[in-house]
Amino acid sequence: NPLNFSGVWRFRSLFPYATDEQIVTLGEGQTLLQQTDHVGKFVGLDPGKLHLQYEGMNPSGSFKDNGMTAAFTHARMVGAKRAACASTGNTSASLAMYCSVTRLMKAVIFIGSGKISYGKLSQALDYGALTLQIAGDFDDAMARVKEVSKDMGIYLVNSVNPFRLEGQKSVMFRVLEALQWEPPDWIVVPGGNLGNSSAFGKAFAELKELGLISRIPRLAVINASGADTLDQLYNNHDVRWNDGHYPRETIGDYYKKMDEEQRKASTLASAIEINRPVNLHKCLRALNDCDGVVRQVSDQEIMDAKSQVGAGGIGCEPASAASVAGAKILREQGIIAPSDRVVCVLTGHQLKDPNATVAYHTTDQETFNKVLGSRGVKRATFANR
Ligand code: F0G
Repeated sequence: NPLNFSGVWRFRSLFPYATDEQIVTLGEGQTLLQQTDHVGKFVGLDPGKLHLQYEGMNPSGSFKDNGMTAAFTHARMVGAKRAACASTGNTSASLAMYCSVTRLMKAVIFIGSGKISYGKLSQALDYGALTLQIAGDFDDAMARVKEVSKDMGIYLVNSVNPFRLEGQKSVMFRVLEALQWEPPDWIVVPGGNLGNSSAFGKAFAELKELGLISRIPRLAVINASGADTLDQLYNNHDVRWNDGHYPRETIGDYYKKMDEEQRKASTLASAIEINRPVNLHKCLRALNDCDGVVRQVSDQEIMDAKSQVGAGGIGCEPASAASVAGAKILREQGIIAPSDRVVCVLTGHQLKDPNATVAYHTTDQETFNKVLGSRGVKRATFANR
């Protein structure tokens, strides 16, 4: 059965909502758990203890395909003719790809102006998606696409869509499979719209209930410092998920203050430049289920970690390296022990954002200034390599 070649659908007995005939697959999810002692040493772990789940090997170059195949299948099941998303670039690349390869739907994409790397923008354009740049950032684009899709009856594939999260659970199924179903001590993941962290928490809770794992790994969600809503709320306000109850007022007050101060997200890691994560509540539940922690990392820490991932032979885009930078901080704080088995999820391909990479390594002042100088990030030193 060709579905067994999909790293998502070979686990289809755990997503029981579509028949084999209804499933749309492009061979997504054929990703492997890598092991690298070069990056492990940078993080501060004993040899053999750091693993990188590199999701850049998906057909559109990011983890999004895991969820898109699931949402796209559902969109087809309900007869959708158009599908929309707001995006910092990877969701849109993935949606555009599924639309163009299958010709089943037209893609409508909302992006914040100047907020998406050229690698990702070029994918949406080449795949022929209707690509709309709107005034504002991702949070504005997200608000807009929610309205438009509702008004015009367009199928929404952002991670508010529960089928997206179902598919993204498979990232953890593959991690566990690679570890012979012995859960690691830690899963470390970048946090943007908080779809992955929510999906991973759900995956572990379900696997435990099914008796397929005996223990749930701890979850660490890493924000970029310029987009730190989850970190601020989780560590500085009382927003713990409590038996089905979320402190909605605390969260509402936080957003109100953010609006009053006109605070906008700002980070070099454009994929996670998000201040209003749509899966915030689900993520709080995942953090509860997985004894989770949240940290933030600076653009400098992200770029330094990214160069280590590159030197370790895999490479990733800036947002992905937040996981490695976050693991290093948790190790330094003694929360992760040197002997812990740690899986960092690398969410996107190295080639997604070449401008950031070149600016970090170049000796050309102008190129450096344009991308990194204004953000106060220093370029690579010999020690980074
Ligand atoms: N890493 C990459 C490379 C991403 O593209 C994203 C999200 C994230 C991490 C954050 O993941 O939302 O599950 O917490 N990108 C979205 C997009 C927002 O539009 O492509 P999350």
